[in-house]
Amino acid sequence: TTIACIFDLDGVLVDTAVYHYQAWKKLANSLGFDFSHAQNEQLKGVNRMRSLDKILDWGGIVKSQEEKEELAALKNTWYVDMISRMSASEVLPGSLELLQDLHDRDIKIALGSASKNSGLILERTNLTHFFDAIVDGNAVTTSKPDPEVFVKGAELLNAAAEDCIVFEDASAGIEAAIAAHMAVVGVGEAANLPGADLFIKDLTGVTVQQLIDLVAKKKG
Ligand code: G6P
Ligand code: MG
Repeated sequence: TTIACIFDLDGVLVDTAVYHYQAWKKLANSLGFDFSHAQNEQLKGVNRMRSLDKILDWGGIVKSQEEKEELAALKNTWYVDMISRMSASEVLPGSLELLQDLHDRDIKIALGSASKNSGLILERTNLTHFFDAIVDGNAVTTSKPDPEVFVKGAELLNAAAEDCIVFEDASAGIEAAIAAHMAVVGVGEAANLPGADLFIKDLTGVTVQQLIDLVAKKKG
């Protein structure tokens, strides 16, 4: 069986949620309300403008489209400031080993992320060279749970959907992978990841054989 792997970035390969949290909290506070960790959880996999819409909603604030563009840009300058200082030490457990293992076996690897900052994050954490294709927030017109990001990734890898495995930490991403007819590994708390074919806490100990078996079993 040939397989291809498509990785979400934030929360799967690197932990950037903490930086998103700090930047969104600073923005919310500047608008006069607070922003909790529980709310930050709900923004995983959700693109920048949709995240802002939710936050303004939680704060009970209405802004024009123009003001929203400005607020999103402001949050992003703070966020970029933080991720510009990231290093390889912030790669999540097991990621490097799995990427290396897949690479050594000539299994194609794509990125499927909602972030428009994926290029900077991959560079700062030294992961860029692993990827045969990168599909991120700059390359899609619709975001997760729409399957576009993963469908594009598979296309660029020349892989059939049924041969692809998506790694996701967000429910919107799991939904997107299912809609793309791909196998999906849920990374994190199983309770937050309904519909995944396999649940893992992090990428530690995941074997290529396990992934090949998962795809084969799913094909039936
Ligand atoms: C990922 C994160 C989200 C974030 C989105 C857009 O999906 O999980 O929390 O909102 O990317 O990120 P960006 O870097 O483009 O603002
Ligand atoms: Mg994620």
